[in-house]
Amino acid sequence: MAKFIVTGGQKLEGDFVVAGAKNAALKMIAASIMIPGRTTIYNVPRIIDVLKMIEIIESLGGKSQFVGNTLTVDASEINSSQPNNNAIQQLRGSVVIIGPLLSLFGKAEFAQPGGCLIGARPIDTHLNAFKSMGAEIKYSGEHFQIATDDDFKTGDKVVVLEEMSVTATENVMMASVLRSGKTRIEICAAEPEIADLAEFLNKAGAKISGAGTNTIVVDGVEKLQPIEYAVMPDRIEVGTIAIAAAITGGKVRIKNIIPAHLQIVLNKFRACHLDFEIEMIDEKFADMIINQKTKLQAPETKWVDTRPYPGFPTDLQPPFVVLMTQAAGRTKVFETIFESRFDYVKWLSVMGAKIEIESPHIVEIEGKTKLHGEMIESTDLRGGAALILAALCADGETVINNTNYVDRGYENFDERLKKLGAKIERVE
Ligand code: EPU
Repeated sequence: MAKFIVTGGQKLEGDFVVAGAKNAALKMIAASIMIPGRTTIYNVPRIIDVLKMIEIIESLGGKSQFVGNTLTVDASEINSSQPNNNAIQQLRGSVVIIGPLLSLFGKAEFAQPGGCLIGARPIDTHLNAFKSMGAEIKYSGEHFQIATDDDFKTGDKVVVLEEMSVTATENVMMASVLRSGKTRIEICAAEPEIADLAEFLNKAGAKISGAGTNTIVVDGVEKLQPIEYAVMPDRIEVGTIAIAAAITGGKVRIKNIIPAHLQIVLNKFRACHLDFEIEMIDEKFADMIINQKTKLQAPETKWVDTRPYPGFPTDLQPPFVVLMTQAAGRTKVFETIFESRFDYVKWLSVMGAKIEIESPHIVEIEGKTKLHGEMIESTDLRGGAALILAALCADGETVINNTNYVDRGYENFDERLKKLGAKIERVE
């Protein structure tokens, strides 16, 4: 398996263009099977998870063309409600194909979705929501079979989710798009990627309101039409690169960000004395300029916890812990969303970080520590990215095995870091 060899100590400098958001693009690709004809999606990141989702829609009869970051999906010949098991088992996000399949065919048959090992992650919230809409679900031999009848397809419904799950919200929203009736979904997650998916679907003719809040209402429509749409910038990538710039004492302009998606993250950055400015380009988009001069500090609250949006994103928790290893003072980080998202911490400790694991959900970091190069291993996507950041500011050479985790979610991360002056080599 490929590895990264990073020689630490280079200040990152230059311009960085943010890729499209993984967790929005994946859902749009799944949703495109509901749109008869050719849908063009711009700003799609070239990452393994996206390639797997393309494989899934192709296994249903869809056709695709992926040139640069523009993906065209032709769904005119979608004819199956049984996606390829192999791809489903490799990607947790593949679960979002179920909503579109139920909208289109009223049925779906699929294997247990897999993915990064960051917690128990069953799909009960999704299944119970579909059940409450009238679906019948059978499970045997690690296989799900979902069947529905007219009761699912027609009439007004209220669906109360069991928790604010991002993909469950999206799944129910997508399953409702082609119903004949109104679906009111309560206890929705409010992540910006959900609002972006709703905007994509609305452009195609869906009638969704409230996406980005905790209550979404979908007025069913008969048919969607082909569209062109650009995926929102990846807010997690913005946070990751901002931290990389700060911990190397660098000067980086991150282009094409949406600051409104990053409010709590920017607040925490200010609290840690991360030196940045936001230059608005228009009402929505901005450049973020990081020019780290001040000493990084642990936040005065001494405490950061991950929460559903607009709280601090769990996907930025690992890079934030690395930031805290370079900040003076003690900080506790409380991971409230996932059960095992601190696996990467053991490798940070090997590199010299002072981190106490208080429970599977809480770590306490004491900074600032000088990190040193070691032979380490990526444990999951965001943990892997965090270890690259640690290596960028460590003394000497770090070898990071299992780069495939990072390739799942960051497009050409090594090459793009290299353009900023990082010394990073990929060895196959
Ligand atoms: N959960 C359940 N049962 C369910 C659904 C969720 O127990 O049916 C639990 C999960 O185990 C977890 C929590 O609820 O403890 C939150 O899970 P959620 O469903 O919100 O997460 P998700 O929809 O599976 C998406 C992103 C994740 C991101 C989370 C939280 C996609 C494809 N994935 O996952 O992204 O961490 O929301 O924001 O959108 C990543 O990009 O690295 C990543 C893991």
